[in-house]
Amino acid sequence: MKAVTYPQYGSPDVLRLVDLDKPTPKDDEALVRVHASSVNIAEWYTMTGLFLARLGSGFFKPKDTRLGTDFAGVVEAVGKNVTDFKPGDEVFGGRSGAFAEYVTVRKAIAHKPANVTFEEAAAVPTAGITALQGLRDHGKIQPGQKVLIHGASGGVGSFAVQVAKAFGAEVTAVCSTKNVERARRLGADHVFDYTKEDFTRGGQKYDLLFNANGSRSWSDYKRVLKPNAAFVLAGGPRTPLVGPLSLLVKTRLAMLGASQKFFFFVAQFNREDIQVLKEMLESGKVKPFVEKTYPFAQVADAMRHLGAGHASGKIIVAMR
Ligand SMILES: NC(=O)c1ccc[n+]([C@@H]2O[C@H](COP(=O)([O-])OP(=O)(O)OC[C@H]3O[C@@H](n4cnc5c(N)ncnc54)[C@H](OP(=O)(O)O)[C@@H]3O)[C@@H](O)[C@H]2O)c1
Repeated sequence: MKAVTYPQYGSPDVLRLVDLDKPTPKDDEALVRVHASSVNIAEWYTMTGLFLARLGSGFFKPKDTRLGTDFAGVVEAVGKNVTDFKPGDEVFGGRSGAFAEYVTVRKAIAHKPANVTFEEAAAVPTAGITALQGLRDHGKIQPGQKVLIHGASGGVGSFAVQVAKAFGAEVTAVCSTKNVERARRLGADHVFDYTKEDFTRGGQKYDLLFNANGSRSWSDYKRVLKPNAAFVLAGGPRTPLVGPLSLLVKTRLAMLGASQKFFFFVAQFNREDIQVLKEMLESGKVKPFVEKTYPFAQVADAMRHLGAGHASGKIIVAMR
């Protein structure tokens, strides 16, 4: 099968489309023929060799050269203990090495709803789970709360707007001019265009701030938070050595003594949350926004697009 690998750390130029053996599913795994995948910042950090990531993935060169996480496709075979999926089922989920024609999956997999395409389903897993877990598990979102999404137009942010609306919140989105109309269409009640106005000077106070951008200082964010608000940090500016760690430490220190609660988290894949997202897709509460789909052979271009920092919604890679 064809798969994308990164034999060394570096820019998207290191990516190679190679032939690998087709995997065989273990007893508790499904073999999925991948139709589409999507690109995420996690892949960017892995590929470029973020210092912290190297501690796990190999200091001088990657131990596992496969890349990609999100997939949508069709089950081709199942192990003898798999009862909830069968060949021919359309599925989506998350699994390392998903920039490939096939993946074997055990945990994070659900049936793909009929009302979304493979490309749309492939947009969901990482970004959707990050939005869901950040708002529900860490932010403890409640109906009627005023919720601010900073960085509302990217992969994570566009899901965060919709997930927050699905939980009954009053949502304010922060994005640039070209994304204002779309943020409204995704359900935002109010939108700040950060190129024209400073959302930290609007006078409004929020119960929960979901931060998918992290470009402002704590003293700015503090102005818009109620005293008992939750401040959930999903990500921030891309720093090559330690990624979000410097922002995390800086924010933690700046928040010492603050009355607001601070949460930083790393999204965890599990079947239950893929199932929650599946139901949100089916009910129409969440609709993935795909900015562009690249052919499989152009994964490097898809990564460059993401790496430029201004993707709208999700960038997809199509294997079929
Ligand atoms: N904690 C976790 O487990 C987890 C999981 C996934 C991702 N993340 C993190 O979440 C963050 C967002 O990821 P993503 O996939 O959504 O990235 P992305 O798709 O690359 O986000 C790009 C978006 O950021 C917006 N943006 C850039 N500068 C901005 C600014 N000053 N103010 C507001 N928005 C701005 C851009 O909008 P404009 O073009 O309109 O500027 C663009 O739409 C990243 O830092 C990533 O590392 C964390």
